[in-house]
Amino acid sequence: MPGPLLQPKPVQPFSYRKTAPIRLSDKHGREIHYLRISLTDTCNLRCVYCMPEHMKFRPRQELMSTAEYARLLRLFHALGFDKFRFTGGEPTLHPDLIELVRLTSDLPGNPLTALTTNGVLLPKLAKPLRDAGLRRVNISLDTLDPERFKQLTRRQGLEAVLRGLNAAEDAGLEIKLNAVAVRNFNEEDFVPLARFTLEHDWQVRFLEMMPFGNNADFQNGQRVEEQGVMGRLTRAFGPLEPVGNGLDGEAKVFRIPGAKGTVGFISPVSDPFCGDCNRARLTADGKLRLCLLKDDEVDLLTPLRAGADNRALEKSVREGIWEKPWGHDLAYQRFTQNRGMSEIGG
Ligand code: 5AD
Ligand code: SF4
Repeated sequence: MPGPLLQPKPVQPFSYRKTAPIRLSDKHGREIHYLRISLTDTCNLRCVYCMPEHMKFRPRQELMSTAEYARLLRLFHALGFDKFRFTGGEPTLHPDLIELVRLTSDLPGNPLTALTTNGVLLPKLAKPLRDAGLRRVNISLDTLDPERFKQLTRRQGLEAVLRGLNAAEDAGLEIKLNAVAVRNFNEEDFVPLARFTLEHDWQVRFLEMMPFGNNADFQNGQRVEEQGVMGRLTRAFGPLEPVGNGLDGEAKVFRIPGAKGTVGFISPVSDPFCGDCNRARLTADGKLRLCLLKDDEVDLLTPLRAGADNRALEKSVREGIWEKPWGHDLAYQRFTQNRGMSEIGG
């Protein structure tokens, strides 16, 4: 009689797996299974903290076609990625966004499919996106005042964004609001934005501004850190209550007593969360970007266009992910120089 380790294993009943079985890890032991996909570097707004007024955009032929996105999305899914977020620039400007959302959410295991948008085009798109399988939407909204909206985005559009928010709610999408906190621009808006959560089951998140090579003086100079936002909220609503274990992804979450929704803080500068990072990014020109705030990238589009097979592309992705940098170096005043925020998608 062989010892217990050599005895034949009982036969397991066959079962379908819900998600891809194996996730990629980097050399720091983090599982990387969340892909943010930038669909374009252009935008219908010009937020002062994101891009210069006269931003130069990439020529069309440098950007991926829908078929190229489809190929890479399937490939990342096969490598264990199970959460996908479309970003930009402004992803709703892409003519095939709905198709790409459908393709992604119909992949085996129905991965979580989300979108980050400025909301301007949501009045028309919220419902068809939901029908295509989109589950979550993060809408960027820094102010509720039309004049300040114009100063911050250099464009009109507040009214469209507010209609977009309603359309997203009516369509049954899970809603988060992203507000970048900018000194001398929207400090008066922190309390009114947080007030949304009293009546709506949304998460209103306040983001600390991060520096990028093309706009760092503004981003570093006008930053309001978490404490500053929290101070204003506490003076208006009293102490906020931590929710659950206090974390939701990269956000620290609180509730105004009695509110339906929650308030989140995303504080990459004053309280980095790199140790828990599970994400990688695909830029609109087909580079696997390993860290938002570092230059490291792996070119996937050039080999793809040169006829590389899936095995070769998968190898590039695996090797790239393995080398994902440990985290950003903002504490040493070092940050990325090769792209601005709108060319990565956050
Ligand atoms: N720092 C922090 N957040 C930013 N965003 C754009 N630029 C910056 C920056 N420099 C926000 C957008 C959007 C999200 C993806 O990131 O407003 O909500
Ligand atoms: Fe456009 Fe978003 Fe950048 Fe504003 S932050 S300019 S909405 S990409």
